[in-house]
Amino acid sequence: MVRKLRSLSWFDSREYYSFARRSTLRAQGLTRAATEGKPVIGICNTASDLNPCNRHLTQVSEAVKRGVWAAGGFPCEFPVISLGEMFLKPSAMLYRNLMSMDVEEMIRANPLDAVVLLGGCDKTIPALLMGAASANVPAIVVPGGPMLSGTFRGKTLGSGTDGRKHFDLFRSGKLTDDDMEELECSIARSSGSCMVMGTASSMALVTEALGMSLPGAAAWPAVDARRYAIAEQSGTRAVAMATHGPTPREVMTRPAFHNAITALMAAGASTNAVVHLLAIAGRLGISLSLDDFEAISSKSPLLLDLKPHGQYLMEDFAYAGGAETLLQNLLPLLEGDAITVSGTTLQAQLATHNAHEQSVIRSIPNALDSDGGIKVLRGNLSPNGALIKTSAASAHLLTSRGRAIVFESKDEMLEKVNDESFHVEEDNVLVLRNAGPHGGPGFPEWGQIPLPKSLMLRGISDVVRISDARMSGTSYGTVVLHISPEAAIGGPLGAVQNGDWIELNVPNRTIQLDLSPATIEARLAALPPRKPHYDRGYGSLFLQHVEQAHLGCDFDFLKYKDQ
Ligand code: FES
Repeated sequence: MVRKLRSLSWFDSREYYSFARRSTLRAQGLTRAATEGKPVIGICNTASDLNPCNRHLTQVSEAVKRGVWAAGGFPCEFPVISLGEMFLKPSAMLYRNLMSMDVEEMIRANPLDAVVLLGGCDKTIPALLMGAASANVPAIVVPGGPMLSGTFRGKTLGSGTDGRKHFDLFRSGKLTDDDMEELECSIARSSGSCMVMGTASSMALVTEALGMSLPGAAAWPAVDARRYAIAEQSGTRAVAMATHGPTPREVMTRPAFHNAITALMAAGASTNAVVHLLAIAGRLGISLSLDDFEAISSKSPLLLDLKPHGQYLMEDFAYAGGAETLLQNLLPLLEGDAITVSGTTLQAQLATHNAHEQSVIRSIPNALDSDGGIKVLRGNLSPNGALIKTSAASAHLLTSRGRAIVFESKDEMLEKVNDESFHVEEDNVLVLRNAGPHGGPGFPEWGQIPLPKSLMLRGISDVVRISDARMSGTSYGTVVLHISPEAAIGGPLGAVQNGDWIELNVPNRTIQLDLSPATIEARLAALPPRKPHYDRGYGSLFLQHVEQAHLGCDFDFLKYKDQ
């Protein structure tokens, strides 16, 4: 069915404002022939000097424009808030929902017939998808792509993952200031997002599996010519989508979420993608819960050998065939009939992909592990759920019991872990609280509590760590995250005291504080009242409306409503 262009109601009437709007196009030197009756394709750009991972999207946008003009459309680039993971305090996550509102409102309020969404750094693709889902104007995502692999003294390095490992060597005196300066110049060699299977790469992969980007869009490096070719093709495709769809609601269906979660698990990807997928589904009225992730994880073999759990990087993934090869290998587990932005089914789209011999992306019979590596834990410490990424954890700690050492804040945690005299045993359980959506505030990535210096000096490389925070997708270790409800709103994590026994049993999917319900309740009742972090502005809106981790941390008023 051919859809009427939305933009006609802005430009094609006999009322005064249509004339006035057209005159502003003439003011740009655009002739009637260049614009009249053409689909207006928005290019929603998150390029920003404050977001180095997305800075090159200005060039990507030029390639999209080329594709739009060539297909007979009229491209209009517009900026939205950009969230740079490295610069924003206290956490880019505090602003994901704000950015999604910017995206939604700018798409809806402007004369756009379709939109190309340019994102990359962790929160930008989730916010683009959330906003596009709510606006429901045909949309296609072009991820910015990962950086080139890092190289340092003959070794290949992955951002975040190897950065943290080398920083721990620096903390324990094995690397000097000069070494670190050389490393600083070697680990981030080009524009683009972190090049391990961190959150940015996970969201690019999930987007392709959801059907919201063209085949091959997830993995090509930011500087690879093929990324610019996909950008051009996406611009061309958006022109066709303006009149023929599909819309985000037609693409992001429940089967599409099944495909996205299967790909996420097969990639051993970021725990953050769980929160973002829950939020995107919430914008579409699709019922999705942590139980869906657990169920799909248990049936999805781990196929990608990428850091942080494996050995390769995103560049290797791209050269090995990228998301197309991964999805092709996963096809027996996927909903192949799901429609994608290419206008065909996922199965039809994958049928033309020629996979070749390589060792980065495994086949199902040759899987690295039998399941996807993200597990949902429940118990009296996390009644609404918590996550652990077992693919990046130490096997010997997955069933363990230890006494708690509690940190009330990030500052206390950093002070103690860096103090050589801070006494910790390898079977202690490190607990960080007040780091969730309310507590952080903004659900920061503090969950990979750094190993205490005293343990590192003894050669111990992992201990059980639990928190109501998130962790970077580039992180690793036996880390229990996203405990819900969080301590700051009265969750049971607030009741833990130093010396309490905590039992982690991943095979049974439990995390348990060894105290009676009455004791937990009495301790929580005795806690002093908390002062909120904000009493005005966006921060105050965030605290009033943000939901907990197991629901995706969206604002309650942004959820899908049948109108
Ligand atoms: Fe932007 Fe990692 S800091 S993707």
